[in-house]
Amino acid sequence: MKAVVITEPGGPEKLIYQDVPTPTIRPGWSLVTVKGFGINHSEIFTRQGLSPLVKFPRILGIEYVGLIEQTTDPERLPVGQKVISIMGEMGRAFDGSYAEKVLLPNTQIYPVTTDLDWATLATIPETYYTAYGSMLNLHLTAADHVLVRGGSSGVGIAFLKLVHASFPGIQVTGTSRHLDKKGQLLKQGFDGVVVDQNGHLQTDQTFDKVLELIGPATMKDTFRHVNEGGIVCSTGQLGYQWYLDQFDPIMDLAPNSYLTSFYSDNVDNDKLNQLLRVITDRQVDVHPTKIFKLDQVPAAHAYLESHHSLGKVIVLN
Ligand SMILES: NC(=O)c1ccc[n+]([C@@H]2O[C@H](COP(=O)([O-])OP(=O)(O)OC[C@H]3O[C@@H](n4cnc5c(N)ncnc54)[C@H](OP(=O)(O)O)[C@@H]3O)[C@@H](O)[C@H]2O)c1
Repeated sequence: MKAVVITEPGGPEKLIYQDVPTPTIRPGWSLVTVKGFGINHSEIFTRQGLSPLVKFPRILGIEYVGLIEQTTDPERLPVGQKVISIMGEMGRAFDGSYAEKVLLPNTQIYPVTTDLDWATLATIPETYYTAYGSMLNLHLTAADHVLVRGGSSGVGIAFLKLVHASFPGIQVTGTSRHLDKKGQLLKQGFDGVVVDQNGHLQTDQTFDKVLELIGPATMKDTFRHVNEGGIVCSTGQLGYQWYLDQFDPIMDLAPNSYLTSFYSDNVDNDKLNQLLRVITDRQVDVHPTKIFKLDQVPAAHAYLESHHSLGKVIVLN
């Protein structure tokens, strides 16, 4: 089969499209035909060598949508069943989804019932699951003014779409480091755009709820823009800083405000099907901003790292 293999850390050119042996089925694992997957920023971190536990060579890819091809659990995962998987050490401790087929433990293969087309479905797993979990943890109300710090990211735009579909009329502002993305961000549905310059928001506005995707690098500055009683959900680390440093909770949190987070590793079948129902019932406007093929994965990584990157990038097989 074809797959994209990385043997050493570096730029997108280290992702090599090549022939590899098709994985052999073994007890407790099933083989899936990969129909599509999203490219995630964590895969960029891993490609750059910033995931010390990941040993190369490795086929990256922490999510996919696909069909069961060979099964060791014919009752729950019959051949032809539509399935999704997210995280659980796929593309990290064992080979992942940047391939035509992927072998996974049955425990982390989730059968789904949906009529969504493959491009829409491939936009959802990791990104919408993370956006949805973050939205729930922010305890939104329709009266909130919401900020997405890292508004142009895949998770940022997924969050925007879910929030607008769930709370009609709610105000959601997005940030980008690049003023020239303002028009595109407004077109995606943001009600306002703020420039994030060297980790400082270029505004005096304050917000009730913040999805913080730049992470510990900008947390202090974020809390300067939070209203009393507000909540910040720190879900991303786009700022390449993993830990809070020199953060004094007494002085640096806004008065009576709250800090929370969300981790997408906590997946179960019911939650995934619930998310698909929410997307269908609330008619959430899910679509990828760019679609690549498997042999174009290096170009997909390069696009996500470029000045122009916006929204969710997927690969369809
Ligand atoms: N907690 C979890 O379980 C979980 C799950 C999924 C994702 N995440 C995290 O959520 C974040 C977003 O993921 P994603 O896959 O949606 O990202 P993505 O689509 O790759 O994000 C791309 C955007 O990130 C911004 N960006 C890139 N480098 C940056 C930097 N050094 N400083 C500030 N902004 C930068 C750029 O925005 P501008 O150029 O417009 O500024 C770019 O448009 C990542 O940190 C990811 O690891 C966490």
